[in-house]
Amino acid sequence: MVVPSRFMGPVSEMPIHLCRGDLLAALAQILDYTPTGDVPHHGRVAALAARMASRLHRIDRASTFYAALVHDIGLMEEPRDYSRLWDLEEQANRPLTRSHPLAGAQMIETVPELSGVAEIILDHHEWVNGHGYPQGKSGDEVGTASQVLRFADTCDILLREQGSPELIAFLDAVRTRTAPQVAAPVADAGIEVLGETGFYAQLLSPGDVKFLVDTTIQRVAADDFATTEAEVTGLLELFANVTDAHASDKIGHSRRVANLSVLLAMAVGLAPDETLKIKWAGFLHDVGMVAVPRALLDKPGLLSDEELAPIRGQAVHTERFLSPIHGMEDVTAIAVSHGEAFDGSGYPRGLAGHEIPVGSRIIAICDTFDALTSRRPYREARDVSLAIDILVRGSGSVFDPEIVTAAVPMFLVRMTVEEPLAAHA
Ligand SMILES: [Fe+2]
Ligand SMILES: [Fe+2]
Ligand SMILES: [Fe+2]
Repeated sequence: MVVPSRFMGPVSEMPIHLCRGDLLAALAQILDYTPTGDVPHHGRVAALAARMASRLHRIDRASTFYAALVHDIGLMEEPRDYSRLWDLEEQANRPLTRSHPLAGAQMIETVPELSGVAEIILDHHEWVNGHGYPQGKSGDEVGTASQVLRFADTCDILLREQGSPELIAFLDAVRTRTAPQVAAPVADAGIEVLGETGFYAQLLSPGDVKFLVDTTIQRVAADDFATTEAEVTGLLELFANVTDAHASDKIGHSRRVANLSVLLAMAVGLAPDETLKIKWAGFLHDVGMVAVPRALLDKPGLLSDEELAPIRGQAVHTERFLSPIHGMEDVTAIAVSHGEAFDGSGYPRGLAGHEIPVGSRIIAICDTFDALTSRRPYREARDVSLAIDILVRGSGSVFDPEIVTAAVPMFLVRMTVEEPLAAHA
């Protein structure tokens, strides 16, 4: 049974004031993660696009920056192999790749406040000569902001193809490659920006690109805040979807954990503000998993201690991805600590009992329940009764016994509600 998360949970009076730039830059870091720490694709495109937007008229700088930060989010269901992005021939021939601007726009427009950002993303592979995709728009039909993304994206592709060429040679290649794609004023703005003292060298360094993104947030997005629960929930569901797409058969896991955690928080009598933080932490609890190799997440059978190490280490990545979001410290702490065990044998810090945030103790139970009752690539879903049995056996060692006591009847109700539904499916 899928319950839309916007209907979940009591009404919170908590004031909400979260920088959209912080949230989208964090999402970009998750999209850009590579084990080798390459120059981030979305980060570099965003740094260049924002600088270009400052030289162009009739363009929304913040929306252009946001769109660049997440422009390839529609590729998230593909295995995380960025080498595919750079092969333009391949892009033209693969249906999934050709549809990614539309898929990305559809994801972003689930947050109504970002509808302008979704429009920019939709056209980021259109060419002014009409040879782009997905719709083959031409000329002025392609908005300036989308052309800026096209230019910046092409620069990133060229840098990956060619290494780090001399600036003069690079500018020549950029002019030639982008001529059919964007209008002359956009190309001129891009060439001018690339020629600014020191900027090209900054684009070649992962650390400098991160610095450029951070300073761009300060310049164009410092006063742009998400202030409603619905917007933040919508944005964090994007994090959840990107995370779950990283492993097979995990679509919907983070949202289900968030929704179950809300019910359990209410069952143990937590206040609405705390419950909202737990819902958000549920969306975010697995973001560090994108740093765990997909093959390991999909591996059948029990994992060795050596194989479990990166999975246990995901909390460190979760903290690194989320800590730059100012105002989300409590939510981040709940997400990071969901692998702690009640007896102190968990990770990452070995917290015990009530040292572990109550939200983390709730999410740990809902996470385990959802994992057990979901199908995995190597096994069928377990029965609810078996999942409850496993939770009860872990009560006091892995799980908070009081919360397990509250969870059992709640999960039993789900079994009686859902099994007849499943029988008619
Ligand atoms: Fe793209
Ligand atoms: Fe791209
Ligand atoms: Fe999980």
